[in-house]
Amino acid sequence: MKVAILGTGYVGLSTGVSLSEIGHHVCCIDVDEGKISLLQQGISPIYEPGMEEFLARNIAAGKLRFTTSHREGLAGAEIVILAVGTPQRDDGSADLTYLEEAAKDLAAHLIQGTIVVIKSTVPVGTNDEIRKIIETNCHEDVSVEMVANPEFLRQGSALKDTLEADRIIIGSENQQAASKVKEMYSPLKVPCMMTSIRSAEMIKYASNAFLATKISFINAVANLCEAVGADVTDVAKGMGMDKRIGNHFLQAGIGYGGSCFPKDVKALWHTTRKHDVDFGVLAETMRVNDEQQVLLVKKALKRFDGHLSGKKIALLGLSFKPDTDDMREAPSIKISQELNKHGAQVVAYDPVATSNAKRVIGEKITYADNLLEAITDADAVFVVTEWQEIKQLDIALLGKVMKKVIVFDGRNCFDEEKIHSCKNIEYYPIGRPAI
Ligand code: UGA
Repeated sequence: MKVAILGTGYVGLSTGVSLSEIGHHVCCIDVDEGKISLLQQGISPIYEPGMEEFLARNIAAGKLRFTTSHREGLAGAEIVILAVGTPQRDDGSADLTYLEEAAKDLAAHLIQGTIVVIKSTVPVGTNDEIRKIIETNCHEDVSVEMVANPEFLRQGSALKDTLEADRIIIGSENQQAASKVKEMYSPLKVPCMMTSIRSAEMIKYASNAFLATKISFINAVANLCEAVGADVTDVAKGMGMDKRIGNHFLQAGIGYGGSCFPKDVKALWHTTRKHDVDFGVLAETMRVNDEQQVLLVKKALKRFDGHLSGKKIALLGLSFKPDTDDMREAPSIKISQELNKHGAQVVAYDPVATSNAKRVIGEKITYADNLLEAITDADAVFVVTEWQEIKQLDIALLGKVMKKVIVFDGRNCFDEEKIHSCKNIEYYPIGRPAI
């Protein structure tokens, strides 16, 4: 099939690359000339494991192209996928400006029978609004069929999540359009669920909000575990053995971040307000997360009797999770701000996110070139992101380069045996007894 994709962010690019991998002819369109020029050379503008191999293979096979020209990119496309960003407005609602612009851009080039798929995360009712925009801006004799097809990929495992998805949601009021989109995905052998447009839009938000709530729930359990002397790792394992609960997304830590959960929970909350529906759980999910993101600072303040001024704190990890350079809503931002407020001297290390972090956090903190530089002479270590390199840290080394080894582990990276390899360590994990 000939497929055009508008938007080459995480979702658009992963979708384009995956659809070309399964045999379709894909043209990705973006208004950002810099991005398109990189992609034409097979260079990925985002850090995503495996992306450049997939790009190279499919560009060479002539199945994947990139352009800034809507006319060129949309020519002959049977399916057009909208995958532009829907960022957060100040009031928490989703900003649909990019989507509306993309709809206008494509309307002028649409031919009768083209199926328009919205993959961007959009509030319920958006597909109807976008249909109106397209129909107002396209030729009189052209009608469009809309399909809501939300995406469930995670950054860091975007290609695997697309190619081996748990499910594909296809929402449409038009049987033929839905079947065509199902056919596009058929080589993937992933179960498809057909539903209405509004249910498909809702499935995306409800899924992300549920996962975020699961994280806030286990973080609240972790805080209780600390108070009563239980171990949240065992508690989560025991809970997860019940198939109805499941063992995924029960990893206690310093809260969820990224470009999706914080934004989507807020947008869903905004929708509940708009429709005057009581959904207090969402407010609590957000409140617990806000508190959790600064938990390490609170623990350090307690340990140092309220005085962090002049203390060197090594922040290990800056990105919102491992295997990505994405800094959006990363807990490291709030942690740095709080530590700065208390006069601490922050030295941070991240294997890939440093240049993004410099843009977001700025020069108020120092950035180390390697792990050793960050931990040398530190008064305390904060484990913020569970990168493999950080999980593999030789704990005994801390004893050699720190006067007193004090570790606040926000991701429960180290087991007891490893901790004991360092003498005189003070170790403060999340939801587990301190050592
Ligand atoms: C999330 C969803 O997992 C995807 O299904 C969805 O498609 C995507 O949002 C989206 O809407 O585009 P992502 O934000 O890439 O994906 O990352 P996750 O792996 O879900 O992690 C989100 C945050 O939750 C991270 O900060 C992570 O550290 C935290 N987390 C995750 C926990 O604190 N505990 C866990 O057990 C799992």
